[in-house]
Amino acid sequence: IKITIIDREGEAHVVDAPTDMNMNLMEVVRSYELAPEGTIGICGGMAMCASCQCYILSHEDLLPEKSYEEEDMLDQAFFVEDNSRLGCQIFIKKELEGLEVKLAPEST
Ligand code: FES
Repeated sequence: IKITIIDREGEAHVVDAPTDMNMNLMEVVRSYELAPEGTIGICGGMAMCASCQCYILSHEDLLPEKSYEEEDMLDQAFFVEDNSRLGCQIFIKKELEGLEVKLAPEST
C-alpha cells in the first residue's frame, strides 16, 4: 500500500509499504531511512522508548486501540498530541492504504 510519511524536516515521502510482512510503521520509516539511524526504533518496537512517535493525519478510526503499554509510554513521552501513536504499534494492513503520518520531533 502507499503511505505518506512526513519526516522531521517537514518533507513528505510517499512510500510503498508491504502488507504481507507483518511490518510496523517504525520499520517502514527505518527501511526508507526517513529518520537518522539511532533516532527511531530505539527499543526495537517494544513500546518502551517513544522514539517512533508519530502524528496520525488520516485513517485514525481504522487503527487498533492503544494497548496499555502504548498509553503508558505516550504518557511519559514529549511532544504528545491527541493524534500521537507509537509507530511500532501500528501494523501495515490493507485498509490503511493512503495513510498519512508525520514523525514527532526527536525526543532523546
Ligand atoms: Fe520504541 Fe516504538 S520503537 S516505542
